[in-house]
Amino acid sequence: MPTRVDEIADGIFRISTSIPLPALPGGFTFNQILIRDAAPLLFHTGLRGHFEATRAAIERVLPVASLRYLAYSHFEADECGAMNAFLAAAPGAVPLCSRVSAMVSMGDVADRPPRALGDGEELDLGRHRIRWLDTPHVPHGWDAGLIWAPTARTLFCGDLFTQPGAELPPVTEGDILGPSEAMRGGMDYFACRDKARTTLARLADLQPRTLATMHGSSFRGDGAALLRALAKALSAPADPP
Ligand SMILES: [Fe+2]
Ligand SMILES: [Fe+2]
Repeated sequence: MPTRVDEIADGIFRISTSIPLPALPGGFTFNQILIRDAAPLLFHTGLRGHFEATRAAIERVLPVASLRYLAYSHFEADECGAMNAFLAAAPGAVPLCSRVSAMVSMGDVADRPPRALGDGEELDLGRHRIRWLDTPHVPHGWDAGLIWAPTARTLFCGDLFTQPGAELPPVTEGDILGPSEAMRGGMDYFACRDKARTTLARLADLQPRTLATMHGSSFRGDGAALLRALAKALSAPADPP
């Protein structure tokens, strides 16, 4: 189970663990996004079972004990399964999530109370300032949200653009929409297409230069165009069941 670390934007690192998966013959990746800063932030803790691999990889960038925020998009095992293991390893860290996620899940599950952010709320990490964006049901989860890092013009876009495959470059300027749409064809992880199109238009208005994905390669280039292309793809009629 190899884990690699790559700096994908200024001070922003992608930690990626590849696994074989019976449902996906080419394998699959689980990525965490780490901001190295005065108050370091990790986006997605990863699976509980990957904790030791993730921790060892983070240590190549900064001490795990120095982590301050353990953020995630929505309540799922790959988003926050290792939360309590990280809370134990980082005594000054707190979970960071949407108000809904804190209310319905993390307030009960976490060993320390979460810090909940409202839509548009910003948080100063030192060199970076991040903004929380509520994205309910996009691509899934009532509690979902994403992070925008304007200093690095990077959108932490979670499950958007999920691509299969274990041997993918950390960042590409090539096509990630095609592979992610091919995967969505067999495994549609979008909860509500109408809502998604509106939300994606809002995200495109940020004009991101890097899209930091949770599964597969991150994208560098015209993020707005790619987000609009995804919105257009979601406008296509669904295949009959
Ligand atoms: Fe998810
Ligand atoms: Fe995910």
